[in-house]
Amino acid sequence: MQVEMDMEGALNARNQVGIQDFVLLDETSEAAFLSNLKKRFCKDLIYTYIGTLLVSVNPYKELDIYNKKQMDVYMGVNFFELPPHIYALADNAYHTMLAEFSNHFILISGESGAGKTEASKKILQYYAVSCPSTALLNTVRDKMLMSNPVLEAFGNAKTLKNDNSSRFGKYMDIQFDSEGDAVGGHILNFLLEKSRVVHQNHGERNFHVFYQLLHGGEEDLLHRLGLDRNCRHYSYLTQGECAAMPSVNDKNDWKTVKNALQVIDTDAIDAHHLFGIVASVLHLGNVKFEPDGKGHAGLNEKNAELHWVSNLLGVDANSLKEGLTFRKIEAKTDQVLSPFSPDHAVYVRDALAKAVYGHTFTWLVNTINASMENTDPSKKTVIGLLDIYGFEVFNINSFEQFCINYCNEKLQQLFIQLTLKAEQEEYEAEDIEWEPVQFFNNKIICDLVEERHRGIISILDEECLRPGEATDLTFLERLEEKMGNHPHFVSHKLADKKTRGTLERGDFRLLHYAGEVTYCVVGFLDKNNDLLYKNIKDLMCHSKNPIVRQSFSCMEPDSRRRPETVATQFKSSLMKLTEILVAKDAWYIRCLKSNESRTPGQFDEALIRHQIKYLGLMQHLRVRRAGFAYRRKYEVFLQRYKALCPATWPHWRGDAADGVLMLVQHLGYFPNEYKMGRTKIFIRHPRTLYATEDAFEKCKHQLATRLQAKYKGYRAKGEFRKQKEAATKIETCWRGAQARKERDKRAWAVKVIKQFIKGYMTRGQAKVTDNSEYLAFVRQNYLNRLKDNLPETVLDKSTWLAPPSVLAETSELLRKLHYRLMVRKYVRGITPQKKTQLQLKFIASSMFMGKKESYPQSVAQPFADSRISDEDINARVLQMLHSEHIKYSVPTIKYNRNGFKTRPRQLILTQAAAYMVEEAKIKQTILYTALQGISVSNLTDSIVVLHVTREDPKDKGDLVLQCKHLFELVTKLSIVANKQNVVRVLQGSIKVEFQAGKESAVEFSTGPEPTAYKAKNGHLMVVATRARPR
Ligand SMILES: Nc1ncnc2c1ncn2[C@@H]1O[C@H](COP(=O)(O)OP(=O)(O)OP(=O)(O)O)[C@@H](O)[C@H]1O
Ligand SMILES: [Mg+2]
Repeated sequence: MQVEMDMEGALNARNQVGIQDFVLLDETSEAAFLSNLKKRFCKDLIYTYIGTLLVSVNPYKELDIYNKKQMDVYMGVNFFELPPHIYALADNAYHTMLAEFSNHFILISGESGAGKTEASKKILQYYAVSCPSTALLNTVRDKMLMSNPVLEAFGNAKTLKNDNSSRFGKYMDIQFDSEGDAVGGHILNFLLEKSRVVHQNHGERNFHVFYQLLHGGEEDLLHRLGLDRNCRHYSYLTQGECAAMPSVNDKNDWKTVKNALQVIDTDAIDAHHLFGIVASVLHLGNVKFEPDGKGHAGLNEKNAELHWVSNLLGVDANSLKEGLTFRKIEAKTDQVLSPFSPDHAVYVRDALAKAVYGHTFTWLVNTINASMENTDPSKKTVIGLLDIYGFEVFNINSFEQFCINYCNEKLQQLFIQLTLKAEQEEYEAEDIEWEPVQFFNNKIICDLVEERHRGIISILDEECLRPGEATDLTFLERLEEKMGNHPHFVSHKLADKKTRGTLERGDFRLLHYAGEVTYCVVGFLDKNNDLLYKNIKDLMCHSKNPIVRQSFSCMEPDSRRRPETVATQFKSSLMKLTEILVAKDAWYIRCLKSNESRTPGQFDEALIRHQIKYLGLMQHLRVRRAGFAYRRKYEVFLQRYKALCPATWPHWRGDAADGVLMLVQHLGYFPNEYKMGRTKIFIRHPRTLYATEDAFEKCKHQLATRLQAKYKGYRAKGEFRKQKEAATKIETCWRGAQARKERDKRAWAVKVIKQFIKGYMTRGQAKVTDNSEYLAFVRQNYLNRLKDNLPETVLDKSTWLAPPSVLAETSELLRKLHYRLMVRKYVRGITPQKKTQLQLKFIASSMFMGKKESYPQSVAQPFADSRISDEDINARVLQMLHSEHIKYSVPTIKYNRNGFKTRPRQLILTQAAAYMVEEAKIKQTILYTALQGISVSNLTDSIVVLHVTREDPKDKGDLVLQCKHLFELVTKLSIVANKQNVVRVLQGSIKVEFQAGKESAVEFSTGPEPTAYKAKNGHLMVVATRARPR
């Protein structure tokens, strides 16, 4: 399942640095494997997959790939698109667990110093960050995280291979509830390397806790424990000659451990006892035995170290002394004390130290478990982390290596079982015929080691129990007897000539699945027995130190039964572990050491080749690739490669399996290269996939260009559509706004019109709200119009604009005002001359208006002061008249009395009289006093008759004159003579009297031509034309 996921990422990164997944390696040779690993390691890519298995190469330098950002990148992401990482594996396990509600374990294996513990810490940290958190969950999380420094203090030590080497195997269950919250944890520990308590190789150290206590412990604590800070004072710490080392800060670690102890619920009293035990071990190491006279081990009762030990372990000093120097043999009723030799006493002392330390370690694990225990009964799923020693091959391999390698043999068996099972299950589920996979089944080796009665462990146990002188060598003999011709067992004695050379006499060799390992039997029996005499055990069971008491008494419930040997204990714990693991889905991390000297960036090919072999990586790869290297759900496969076949691109509408079939046929897959399962396609060789991937790569470029173009078009279209939509929207809004405006305008107009109509209808009423505006409008309108249509002259009486009724009064006032204004203006504009003129004209009008037909035409013609200039008047006449001021003169035609002959005459008016002048003669003088009347006709003629009284009969009498300037003449004359009242306008005829009693008349009539002639009756007939109507 997850294998598939990884591949996609591997395919993508194929051309980057090496191959991310070995399953896709074209060649399965070790050389190809190594070369790929190296290529990646050189680029600091320390992780590579073999399917779900993660291969990790220790870089020996801090890489910036474990930060929060990286965690976020991998969190919940389909990791097949991301480069291999421990977080990817952790995350994948976590999400599979949640999705399938199943249990999982992550097996981390590798040589000492390869990075197993670091890997398990990284996983824990990842879960601590990525899992949901609450206050409660956080305490569980803290406990899990803090259990590490405590267990490392007590279970880790500096070795030649690793400054922080775990000297025990550890399996930690993290329990999750259905929400994915980490709610509890449980730790199983395996095979603590107790021998380290009493012995360290040169350059190695005892467990960290001793140094931490001495370097970091507070003064009063050390005082209470009877310790000083100098490590050299403790023989258990001096053998390795390596108390301090630069990579470890014991002082700081001490603080961390003390803090961590609190987090895991260890109270002050427990801590007090715990440190007492640590100190007691140091004191115990300093207990020395002196041989007494008989060569027996002697120990002074006053021995200070003895007292410290008894004190700290809470046991009686005497009993302790006895236990360290005598063995108590129980006969039927009696107890016999058998003294030890000094050497044996040292052995017993060391055994006690190891036992005390070992039990305390177990107590610690139990305490941690109790504090992390989840009490909620609902069902939980777990992810187990197994940090366990990988295959170990040294120059000299002993009992420990035997156990460790046996453990790896078991785990390999488990792996094969689980992997093959998973493969087989998948094939079955997919309806694909199971093809037997060629792999080495290591059951035969497991049996060789663990089989009841026949296996090496059984034989070892038997030898340990056998009465008599059993030794390591007798054990080897028994092995040789029993194993005889077992194909995986060789000893010096059994070997053929060629092999024998490579074996010592005390050696036997096992052909493990990972390779051959030669074990030296020396120490096997002892280490397997791990003997602690009963009297000491009893003593410990009654210790006042509760930790000691508890851990010893619970270990040995049945004191009469022989305790289980170390190998058997280990075997049972492995069985138990196998049981735990077999029910879970497996994930693997294989850690490799890049070099022995811990140099960053150095890739030691020989060393790595060795590890590849002993970690069984090639085996693993082969199993993984046994059937089909690649499998993928149809949908996913089709989705990725559909572009490669015209029938499936861009969409395949039918069943995905049919689409895939179409696709692979189009690509020309041979029938034996692939199989069609129920839901997946299986591809046998990576090269087939690569060919497909290469084609895809090529096609991708073309597609990319096409897609780009399409996308650009799409974007442009989208943009256009967006703009269009925006435009429409704006338009709609604009139109809406306009429409609203229009509507408002109309509403306003309706209102105004209504108001107008109402106003109009009530216009006659007094001003009320309804008509006030209308009236105002009417007023304004009228005044405005009036302004533009005012009469321009005083005479214009017709143009005054008719006012509306409301303004009738105002209009009248205005009209008057306006006329007065015009009059005033007019009057102001009148000169004295004009005034005189007007006065004259006024007089003329009073005399003629409406009476004489030609009057209207004359009105417009101004009167002249005189019609004849002085120059035109004869000088003599002027002389004659010199005393008189000439007021007016005008040329006239005189009709004489005899036949009305016409003669031109100048008529000159002075103050006193009117003179008729012909050239130099004054022909007639008419005194105004004699002037009785002035008559004119009512027609258009210009005849004037002056009626004169004759004082004297010689006087000439009335004068008939014709004058062009009739009105002027008559007016002036009437004024000068003050005779307005005698001016007459007569109709028909005017009587004239030339001589006394002799009357004549001028008769007037109208006709087409103006003429004047003497009629038969002697009258002057004047014919006038009709005045043209004006
Ligand atoms: N991923 C890593 N990045 C950087 N350094 C690492 C990494 N893994 C391990 N190391 C370095 O290698 C050292 C040894 O690692 P670790 O203690 O995990 O080894 P181990 O496999 O647990 O060994 P042992 O079997 O002895 O316990 C670490 O102290 C650290 O310095
Ligand atoms: Mg470790």
